[in-house]
Order: sequence, then structure tokens, then C-alpha cells
Amino acid sequence: MNIELITIPKIEDYRGNIAIVEKSTIPFEIRRVYYLFDIPSSATRGGHAHKEQLELLIPLSGSFDVVVNDGKNKLTITLNKPDKGLLIKNNIWRELENFSSGAVCLVISSGEYIEEDYIRNFEEYKDYLGL
Ligand code: TYD
Repeated sequence: MNIELITIPKIEDYRGNIAIVEKSTIPFEIRRVYYLFDIPSSATRGGHAHKEQLELLIPLSGSFDVVVNDGKNKLTITLNKPDKGLLIKNNIWRELENFSSGAVCLVISSGEYIEEDYIRNFEEYKDYLGL
């Protein structure tokens, strides 16, 4: 599957830790950063695939599950460490669920917001992939 767990370099200190995302940490140039917060535990986010854009998801706080699907196989990945991010490459369907209280999901994207890059219907997604 076109996904990768990325360990974000960190500097540990008795005063707390710093995790650093820079050009060399991810295989694309950063064009957009957004974050999900105040998410009800019953909510599902995502529910789409990107035609071109890549995204790195980082659980800045709390935890949540990312269910990824390439049209053939489905995988659930729990993100719960602020220095472990999930890189989702293009053409992967994703759903985010099971958010803990106080969870914050940072998303670093290779593209600006372009609605035309989204496929928001799973049947359309499979058609797009020729499945
Ligand atoms: P949506 O893609 O449904 O959120 P998610 O996939 O993270 O659950 O986005 C919700 C709304 O916010 C939708 O109307 C599009 C808008 N939006 C922007 O305008 N810019 C952005 O960068 C993002 C991520 C969403």
C-alpha cells in the first residue's frame, strides 16, 4: 500500500521534547498545513482520496485511527505518538476515526486546497483506479 510510517527526528530534553519536520523529513515540498481539533469521539473525518496530493498526518496530541484503503486492501493504523506520522501518498482512500479526547491531527500537504484533487465517493474512487 502506498503509505509509510515516518519517524520525525526529535530532540529529547528534561524540559520536554522537540520534534522537527523539515524538507529532508518528507518526500515532498510543503505547500499547506492544517489541523483537526475539537473532534467528537464519534466523528469520522476524511472519507476521500487525493488524485495527486500527498499528506503527512501527525497526532500532535491524543490518538486516532487512520483506515487506509487502496481499493483492494484495507488497513487500520493507530497514530498515538507525536513523533510518528503517517505519510499517505496519492490515490489512497482514508478515513480517520476513534479520536481520543483532546486529539489534534496535524496534516502537512504537498498541495494547496484544490477541491478538484479530491475524490469523495468510494465508487468513483474505484472507477478512477479502474477497479
Ligand atoms: P474535508 O475535506 O471534508 O475535511 P476532512 O477530509 O479533513 O475530514 O473539509 C471540510 C471542509 O473544509 C470542506 O468544505 C473543505 C474545507 N477545506 C478547505 O477549505 N481548505 C482546506 O485546506 C481543507 C482541508 C478543507
